[in-house]
Amino acid sequence: MTSEEASDDQTFAKPQEARVTHIDLNLAMDFDANTIGGTATLDILAAAEASEIILDSNGLRVSAVTDEAGNALKFNLGETAEGKGEPLTIQLPAQKLERNSELTEGELAPTHRIVVEYMSAPEAEALQWLGPEQTAGGEHPFLFSQGQAINNRTWIPTQDSPGIRQTWEATISAPEPLNVVMSGVLQGDPEAEDGNRRDFRFVMNNAVPPYLIAIAAGNIEFRELGPRSGVWAEPEVIEAAAQEVGDTEAMIDAGIALFGDYRWGRYDMIVLPPAFPYGGMENPVMTFLTPTFIAGDRSNNGLVAHELAHSWSGNLTTYSSWRDGWLNEGVTSYFENRIVEEVYGKERAEQEYALSYAGLVGGIDDSGADNPATAMRTPDTISPFDTSGFAIYDKGTVFLRTVENIIGREKFDAWLTQWFDSHAFEPVTSEMFLADLRAKLIGDDDELENRLMLDEWVYGTGLPENAWKPDSEAFAEVDGAISAYAGAGTLPDADAWRGWTAAEQRRFLDEIPQELSGEQLLALDTTLGLSQTANNEVLFLWLEAALSNEYDPAVPQAERFLARVGRNKFVSPLFTALNETDWGKPIAQRIYAETRSGYHAYTRGNVDETLQYEAPS
Ligand code: BES
Ligand code: ZN
Repeated sequence: MTSEEASDDQTFAKPQEARVTHIDLNLAMDFDANTIGGTATLDILAAAEASEIILDSNGLRVSAVTDEAGNALKFNLGETAEGKGEPLTIQLPAQKLERNSELTEGELAPTHRIVVEYMSAPEAEALQWLGPEQTAGGEHPFLFSQGQAINNRTWIPTQDSPGIRQTWEATISAPEPLNVVMSGVLQGDPEAEDGNRRDFRFVMNNAVPPYLIAIAAGNIEFRELGPRSGVWAEPEVIEAAAQEVGDTEAMIDAGIALFGDYRWGRYDMIVLPPAFPYGGMENPVMTFLTPTFIAGDRSNNGLVAHELAHSWSGNLTTYSSWRDGWLNEGVTSYFENRIVEEVYGKERAEQEYALSYAGLVGGIDDSGADNPATAMRTPDTISPFDTSGFAIYDKGTVFLRTVENIIGREKFDAWLTQWFDSHAFEPVTSEMFLADLRAKLIGDDDELENRLMLDEWVYGTGLPENAWKPDSEAFAEVDGAISAYAGAGTLPDADAWRGWTAAEQRRFLDEIPQELSGEQLLALDTTLGLSQTANNEVLFLWLEAALSNEYDPAVPQAERFLARVGRNKFVSPLFTALNETDWGKPIAQRIYAETRSGYHAYTRGNVDETLQYEAPS
């Protein structure tokens, strides 16, 4: 990990000098103060001449740092850099650790151990503290974390870089009756302590990038799905959640059959309150999910396949810097589609691929084919977080589908399986990926090398000409209906519409003319029942169309939706749609003033920028 491509410019750590190998957290949650605090005991591997270690912090309140015996160590919190936080520099103890005889081969023998006593700030970006009114039950508070990308430094003092893998364990105290889950394996039953509180213990024995350490607490219960899997949710939601994710065991089997062993033991999920700003997050052994994917018919389950697929791409093999976003997300989106094909069949997988392909083409059209934000590997000229989502997810999917089709599925699958296996629990780079492909599948076959256009895909902008197109049959029926509507204004038959897959309905709403009159919107809604749909992806497209076209009757529903849902993918574009017209601007300001405080810092940051919102001081 000493190569230039592997280096992460978002960490203050100098891992070649001293790095964290293991974290032991001992923390208590405080739902009155919205803080979590206690100690983090860090095992460190330091070079012989190193005298200090640099950790990442962002607003941590550090009260002391000691060695194991409690002797104070000098520490210093440096200047804050926008977005990155501040370096926490700690003098290493004079006392070195004995070599631990329990270490198995290949494990790193730490040289030092330090204890950081600290507390998170109430505004810590990684943590969202929900009041009871933001939960389904309405009676108990809720907490969840979101570490990716560089937020965990707001609640864990460690080296917060995807290439610096660490094992961890944690003891967490929470008030009754809340249950705590983490992205580690729960050890036994929680232990009662004083003051109506309970201690939960977790262990993660696989070294993980620190953005994958995650926690949630609430009035949640567990429902078993199968021998390896289960789901947590509030009692009000658990039934619907368990129904929706009922294909999880089949998905795990499909993942294993496709690309090799599942190496994490269990695969559990938690369905969070709707304030969760993402669709899902691949926290090991405990995927975090938005409740908005629940449609009653498993039609949005690509999300579950996606987070599960990260158990290979992302969590097992991890990008070593944020500039290689596609290595996690693009490979995972491709893998997701393969799982969908196995579990739900080729037709559905091909439709979802076609949606992804259209998203890519549309994204490149909008941003320009020479835009550096359309390169899969983020170039040094822009921020590592500025590559467009479609260039990471959809371009990554189309890239691997293209390679698969040129190489042949059987050969390509074998290659990808060995890629995950030979880099298990390791950081990887675009360069390594391409070098391994070349070494094992291309050799000196120049003709094949030219046909693949690997460098153009990874480093180039726009859409390479060899891109594998989706089967035009995938949406044949819908595309006919789109032409009929765009031409003579003929609406699809209501029964036909109801028989369409969610992907087909989305295709229709994506592709019909964007400018619609009030009459047309009314007809669409009346005939197709758009505002009644149980699928939030479809509902979102309806609301977006309605708001962009200044359709008054949709405002109350949009308002209720925006008050309830915090998922950035839905919230940001709806505010953007409103903000684009004189009609919508005041509506956006009025709604946002009401809903802003319920949003996660990530969603809030995006909408603040769109609306140029100045928080009242
Ligand atoms: N790991 C991502 C979420 C993420 C990415 C958080 C980058 C922070 C920074 C997760 O696996 C993801 O991709 N979620 C998608 C799911 C979708 C593509 C099926 C989402 O939340 O919409
Ligand atoms: Zn993902």
